[in-house]
Amino acid sequence: MAHHTLLVLGGYGFFGTRICHALAGNKHIHLLVAGRDAARARALTTQLGLPPRQALALDAHAPGLAPRLAELGVDTLIHTAGPFQGQDYRVACAAIDAGANYIDLADGRDFVAGIASLDARARQRGVFVTSGASSLPALSSAVVDRYLPRFRQLTSIRHGIASGARAPGLATMTGIFSYCGKPFQRLVAGRQARTHGWLDLQRHRFAAPVGRRLLGSCDVPDLALFPQRYPGLETVTFHAGFAGAPGHLFVWAAAQLVRLGLLRSLVPLAKPLHAISHWLEPLVSDKGAMFVTMQGVGLDGLPLTLTWQLLAAQNHGPHIPCGAAIALATQLASDGAPAPRGAMPCVGLLTVEAYLAALQGYDVTEVPA
Ligand SMILES: NC(=O)c1ccc[n+]([C@@H]2O[C@H](COP(=O)([O-])OP(=O)(O)OC[C@H]3O[C@@H](n4cnc5c(N)ncnc54)[C@H](OP(=O)(O)O)[C@@H]3O)[C@@H](O)[C@H]2O)c1
Repeated sequence: MAHHTLLVLGGYGFFGTRICHALAGNKHIHLLVAGRDAARARALTTQLGLPPRQALALDAHAPGLAPRLAELGVDTLIHTAGPFQGQDYRVACAAIDAGANYIDLADGRDFVAGIASLDARARQRGVFVTSGASSLPALSSAVVDRYLPRFRQLTSIRHGIASGARAPGLATMTGIFSYCGKPFQRLVAGRQARTHGWLDLQRHRFAAPVGRRLLGSCDVPDLALFPQRYPGLETVTFHAGFAGAPGHLFVWAAAQLVRLGLLRSLVPLAKPLHAISHWLEPLVSDKGAMFVTMQGVGLDGLPLTLTWQLLAAQNHGPHIPCGAAIALATQLASDGAPAPRGAMPCVGLLTVEAYLAALQGYDVTEVPA
């Protein structure tokens, strides 16, 4: 008998759909699929074999969200309705006020890093609130935590993601495009250094069969969180890239125009490029990958470099960002160990094994360091 009511806001979105598919069959979970479009929510519940009453029209930004969540008896809310860059914490606050746990997939640097400002409020209500339950920083920090005991001193973390042909949803693309060509700071060789979104072009070689991919710098939560979490760190960088080089270079060139002040923002390009990426999908590699390279001094006092990788094929890469939310929701709904109380970025909450266990059945292969 299901006893844990889980509401996925943005439940029929690109990542929300995958999360709902993974959790719909969990006998402990009563799943509610929500977004602003009731018809799309209903279409997904039908596909999942759930009754239409489990589909809801809900606007994250409309007043009265907290009483609505309380009325629905929501135990945990998963918030996927990005972009999170520039969003405030009204959804998290509504969840807390309704006495519900809150998990989001945010990739906004300030948004994820600032979630701890809700700590006292969440503790007072006795709920668990976490931000960034996704590839970054949940999986990236789990990887670093796993290899940390092999270092006497970890000095550098360089990591990145190359996507496969299947483009993520509009919210993800809009979030990335919001900082393309815009300046931001990151720690390099012990100093805060300026870079620009999607610039700092690099060619990275992933393990076969992914091979070489173009990557550009991204403004992500890890740039703020890792220097606090891993004392003595001198460098943290993150780069990402599209599967096809022409598409990657097109956005790189457009980001240059933003940097030069000739274009104000790439956000207006998100929708048309999102549509074009769908048409191009059959022409582009279905493989994607993530890498984390850690450098420092090993336990023997000698320089140590370790690289961990995750490879995805058959366009299964888009399941990876869903792993943390699925794993955490499964834990919350089970009768296992109670979740921590308070509000925190999603670091140190999952091991790599727990994260990847949520992706079983997909063509996702770990290449340990
Ligand atoms: N941290 C990481 O590593 C990482 C990695 C990948 C993605 N992400 C995050 O994942 C988020 C979701 O991405 P996606 O690709 O799934 O986007 P998407 O396909 O555009 O989905 C967004 C969903 O939110 C709903 N929505 C938008 N505004 C809403 C509102 N005001 N109230 C209620 N629902 C609303 C949308 O439906 P309606 O418009 O019909 O309401 C849609 O279902 C992105 O914002 C990105 O930040 C994070």
